[in-house]
Amino acid sequence: MKSIKVGLLGVGNVGSGTFNVLQRNQEEIRRRAGRGIEVVAVSARNLERAKERTGGKVKVVADPFDIVNDPEIDIVVELIGGYDQAKALVLQAIANGKHVVTANKALLAVYGNEIFAAAQAKGVMVAFEAAVAGGIPIIKALREGLTANRIEWLAGIINGTTNFILSEMRDKGLDFATVLKQAQELGYAEADPTFDIEGVDAAHKATIMSAIAFGIPVQFDKAYVEGISKLNAIDIRYAEQLGYRIKLLGIAKRAKVNGVEGVELRVHPTLIPAKRLIANVEGAMNAVLVQGDAVGATLYYGKGAGSEPTASAVIADLVDITRLATADAEHRVPHLAFQPNELTNIEI
Ligand code: HSE
Repeated sequence: MKSIKVGLLGVGNVGSGTFNVLQRNQEEIRRRAGRGIEVVAVSARNLERAKERTGGKVKVVADPFDIVNDPEIDIVVELIGGYDQAKALVLQAIANGKHVVTANKALLAVYGNEIFAAAQAKGVMVAFEAAVAGGIPIIKALREGLTANRIEWLAGIINGTTNFILSEMRDKGLDFATVLKQAQELGYAEADPTFDIEGVDAAHKATIMSAIAFGIPVQFDKAYVEGISKLNAIDIRYAEQLGYRIKLLGIAKRAKVNGVEGVELRVHPTLIPAKRLIANVEGAMNAVLVQGDAVGATLYYGKGAGSEPTASAVIADLVDITRLATADAEHRVPHLAFQPNELTNIEI
C-alpha cells in the first residue's frame, strides 16, 4: 500500500527529531500504522541547514504555504510555533482537506476552538499530543485511557524550563539567569522564555488538558497565571528547611462558585511536601497527576521537552491519523491489534 505523505513545517529541534525517529524506526512504525509514513517535503527558513538535517532526501522549500497547498501531502505537521502564521497555515491545511499534527500549545490554547471547529466541518483530524508535556502521552491518557472517568482534577509540572531552573537553583545554588541560559542552550525554553518563566506556557498546556478532561472549550483567558520570576534562592531554601519543595504547577479542577459549577484553571508556584512523588520530579522532567472517580489517582512522568521526546509524541499522532485515515479495511490496523514481527520469545 502507498505510504502516507507528510510535510513538515519547520526542521528545528522537534522537526529534525521527528525526521530522524521516523527514519530510524521506519519498519516498526510502518507495522504499527499499517502503512509507511513518509516525509516528502519540509519548509524552513534556513534551507541549507534543512537540507543537511534531512540528508538531501526530501524537497526543501522556503514558503510553508507551498507545503499546505501541495496536493501530494496528506498530513501537515506544524512545528514553527507562534500565533499568526501558524494559525493561517493550519487553517489553510484544513481547508485543503489535510490532517494536521501540531506541537503548538500557544496556538491551540488561544485559537483551538476555531481550529477544531474548522477541522470538524471539513472532516479532518487535528492531533496535538506533542503540545502538552513533551513525550508523555497525557492527551491520549485523558482522551482514551481515562475515558470512563469523571475527572475531578489534574495537576502537573508541565514546564520543563522552570522545573529545571528550580531544581538547579536548589541543588547547585546557581542563580536564576545562569540556569535559564542553560535551559535555552539545552533547547528546553520557548523562543520567548518569558512564556516559560511567567507561567504562560504551563497555562497554555493546562488549558488544553482541561478542555479534554472536562469537555469544555479552550479558555486560556480565564486562567490565573503566575510564574517563578518573583521567587528568590532564599524562598527555595526556606521551603526546603520546612520540608517542602517549590514547584510550578498547572492545576485544573472542578469548582462550584455561588451554586455555579465550572472548572478552575490556574498556574502558580506551589509548596509540596518533599516526600510526595511529584515533589521529586527534577530537571526538565514533567509529571501530571490526574484524579478520576473510577480509577483514583494516576501519575504520568517523563521528558517534557527536547527533540526526540517531543518527536515521539508527534509520531504517535502521525500513526494514529494514519490508522484512522486508512479506510481500506484490509490495511486498517485496529488500535490494539497484535502486529507480528521477527521477534520470538527467548527461553531463560
Ligand atoms: N518550553 C517548554 C518547556 C518546551 O520548557 O516545557 C516544551 O513544551
